[in-house]
Amino acid sequence: KLTKIHAREILDSRGNPTVEVEVTLNGTTARGISPSGASTGEKEAVELRDGDPERYNGKGVEKAVKGINVEVGKSVTGLSFEGQQAFDDHIIGLDGTENKSRLGANAMLAASIAFARASAVAKGIPLYRQLVEREGYVMPVPCMNVINGGRHSDNNIDFQEFMIAPHNAPSFKESIRMGEAVFHSLRSLLKAKGYYTGVGDEGGFAPNLSSNEEAVQIIMEAIHIAGFAPGKDISLCLDPATSEMWNNGKYEFYKSSKERITTDEMIGFWEGWLKEYPIILLEDGLGENDWEGWKKLTSLLGDKVELVGDDIFCTNPSIIQQGIDQGIANSVLIKLNQIGTVSETLKAVELAQKNGYNCFISHRSGETEDTTIADLVVATGAGHIKTGSGCRSERVSKFNQLLRIEEELGDRASFAGINTFYKKL
Ligand code: PGA
Ligand code: ZN
Repeated sequence: KLTKIHAREILDSRGNPTVEVEVTLNGTTARGISPSGASTGEKEAVELRDGDPERYNGKGVEKAVKGINVEVGKSVTGLSFEGQQAFDDHIIGLDGTENKSRLGANAMLAASIAFARASAVAKGIPLYRQLVEREGYVMPVPCMNVINGGRHSDNNIDFQEFMIAPHNAPSFKESIRMGEAVFHSLRSLLKAKGYYTGVGDEGGFAPNLSSNEEAVQIIMEAIHIAGFAPGKDISLCLDPATSEMWNNGKYEFYKSSKERITTDEMIGFWEGWLKEYPIILLEDGLGENDWEGWKKLTSLLGDKVELVGDDIFCTNPSIIQQGIDQGIANSVLIKLNQIGTVSETLKAVELAQKNGYNCFISHRSGETEDTTIADLVVATGAGHIKTGSGCRSERVSKFNQLLRIEEELGDRASFAGINTFYKKL
């Protein structure tokens, strides 16, 4: 029985307000917190913000908090829910909108996570088991975002995320050690070259560089210096977040050269980089409104690289279905707050996996100490996760939770390795 639900306004890693919810089930209390994105997809579930310019530049979440404390509280207190789906369906019904704009996806997700966590505590099982019960669990390859550009930093790099995937490891623990070795060698290398070593929103370095390509070249050098073989031990993953570059039907290098190129040229650009560098995953290589381009990109490169759709799918099962029907991408980025409840997120994963698509579990650029995605990646067997770089506690808290899970699972866990990336690779 749900005896209490309580929300409050707290802060995310960018210093903006976000919603935290506590749910009490039969005397056990647990909490959930919503993250927040910067380069959001147009079809994401809506964050409810106060819009009062006197508080937090309009980003306050007191309305969302009140919705939980008054309306949701009145409706759910004293009820028994059969499971996650029943609770989520109840608050979805209460909200009554297609995009969760009335109660706010930020409020609803925090409540949904809190309910999942409280259910796990009440049963005395870990969260990943509460989410999905399976025989053996797979520990993910951490795709670490070591250089930040785009909307995640104020440097001159157009592309948002340059990630390293340390896949040639016997365990998650060892893959994290390898990733950190490269992270630290990259720092020394940047410093030696006279570049800035401050970090961006996701904990990757955010220097001004001579070009976007120099970001890849310098990471390759750092991998070598750390003693690893690029492609064999550690490969590259990219999220250029090109929806942010889409401007009047072309892709604009809005932070560097201001050059504008067509969809075909953008596809050619990726083909060139795939030939040159050991890139095994490309997320949002084209923008969310370029469906025709995405079809072309997928038919051309879909058997060579994992093509992840983030902005184009927004973790939304009905849009993912359209993408599957039209042959778009071969992998889906999974972000809980894009859709707004735990059970709809699990539905999105199931749909993707059933159709042979991969799932790539993800944080947001605005994060908190909530580590739900660490349990989610283990629960779903998705095999790879992006949750930042080698520093910043709101990022490494997810790695730390995965280290705990791996230790707890012992022999029952295996490490995903290279095979987790798109199956045709
Ligand atoms: P966001 O970016 O959290 O700022 O939206 C993450 C991504 O594009 O994957
Ligand atoms: Zn993305």
